[in-house]
Amino acid sequence: MQDKKFSVVIAGGGSTFTPGIVMMLLAHQDRFPLRQIKFYDNDPDRQKIVADACEIIIRERAPQIKFLATTDPETAFTDIDFVLAHIRVGKYEMRSKDEKIPLKYGVLGQETCGPGGIAYGMRSIGGVVEIVHYMEKYSPNAWMLNYSNPAAIVAEATRRLCPNSRILNICDMPIDIEGKMAQIAGRESLHDIEWKYFGLNHFGWWTSIKDKKTGEDLMPKIRDYVWKHGYNLKYIKGDAGVQHVDPSWQVTFEMVKGFAPLDPNTLPNTYLKYYLCQDDVVAHSDIKHTRTDEVIEGREKEVFTECRRIAAAGTAKETSFVVDAHAVYIVDLATAIAYNTKANMLLIVPNEGAIENFDPTAMVEIPCLVGSDGPEPLVVGKIPQFQKGMMEQQVSVEKLTVDAWIEHSYLKLWQALTLSKTVPSAKVAKLILDDLIEANKDFWPELK
Ligand code: NAD
Ligand code: G6P
Ligand code: MN
Repeated sequence: MQDKKFSVVIAGGGSTFTPGIVMMLLAHQDRFPLRQIKFYDNDPDRQKIVADACEIIIRERAPQIKFLATTDPETAFTDIDFVLAHIRVGKYEMRSKDEKIPLKYGVLGQETCGPGGIAYGMRSIGGVVEIVHYMEKYSPNAWMLNYSNPAAIVAEATRRLCPNSRILNICDMPIDIEGKMAQIAGRESLHDIEWKYFGLNHFGWWTSIKDKKTGEDLMPKIRDYVWKHGYNLKYIKGDAGVQHVDPSWQVTFEMVKGFAPLDPNTLPNTYLKYYLCQDDVVAHSDIKHTRTDEVIEGREKEVFTECRRIAAAGTAKETSFVVDAHAVYIVDLATAIAYNTKANMLLIVPNEGAIENFDPTAMVEIPCLVGSDGPEPLVVGKIPQFQKGMMEQQVSVEKLTVDAWIEHSYLKLWQALTLSKTVPSAKVAKLILDDLIEANKDFWPELK
């Protein structure tokens, strides 16, 4: 047991992921001991549902940890070591519009990719930057571990708007896939393999997967499987993932088999399906029932029903909430900073030469050694033309979106949408943009 005990605030306390993260934090008290957990949200009613249950969970399992939930920034961000941020500006109501508006024009609708991701980015930037400012005002030595989406656009925005802030942007998709790769390769856990990876957030490739102990090259075996089945597993065990099990996620994992053979030397992130199988994705979509509807009927309903049950019973002894195994990266990252572990983690950081033949100012997702001064990116070297071409297009979409937010520029946002590989023409981009502006008028800066 370490001596120092930490104080954390979960920003977006009302998130559907909060109970799993609380369970995970409680399960790791031996290596990341806490003295305080606070919740912060700007929607008191939504947060209260989750907080009432989590208060009981914490009281029963770790009564030494102080708990409070608040909508007051000063109360939330004072005396904090780590901000764990997972906010969704506009909530599911706006996510639903991000998904459905592009589909009206035959373009895919997704939380973080294509026009939906751009629209969500335009909402998220302000919310995330506000939280960075609260942290710096009330706990200037704290670190923010951000997984609020769309992480690529948020990361580019904070690079520009808060260049000296202690903010680390991270994603759990590669960790989920690495769990699946370990299982495909017959290993017990994702900690039994080591990997190399490069790309942008939700836009990357593994270049090497090896057995951690023996150095055996596991790529051939995993590639054979993925070309036949994608990352779909017949059954899931250990840390291969319990989060992504809905029918639409199974379709996503399966679809990888269609585009993985584009490059036999790498294995792709699932999110590349939105840029390489746009037509199939649109064909599979139902404009009346998108991923948001599935989440509202599934994850949100299950989590909130269980929260209300715990609050009514006054006990969480029998709870169905389980430790969010994916979210262990949050503790890995926090302990890397707190104890200077130099853990090797995939983070979204400024390229600055790590990928030799790519824009040094791009926010790229690459392995970093993390210590008390933050991340030290590892050298990636030169990347192949195919990936370089795709990444240059996509990083330009992300940069133009941030330009549009900062400059309030209609033109830059129209360019961003037109450049997205998911959009067929400038005309369609404009039609989608005009609808998105109308839908987002309470959230976006007014564009000129
Ligand atoms: P959710 O809507 O259930 O929760 C988000 C919460 O944020 C809500 O309670 C909402 O009231 C609150 N919120 C919105 N704007 C806010 C603001 N400006 N300040 C404070 N609170 C605010 O959403 P969810 O599905 O649980 O997802 C939460 C977030 O986590 C999303 O951004 C999602 O994309 C992200 N996420 C990211 C990863 C990753 O890989 N990076 C993994 C899982 C989830
Ligand atoms: C993956 C991604 C996240 C995304 C999450 C939930 O883990 O990495 O960025 O937010 O899936 O997506 P869902 O559609 O289930 O809300
Ligand atoms: Mn992600």
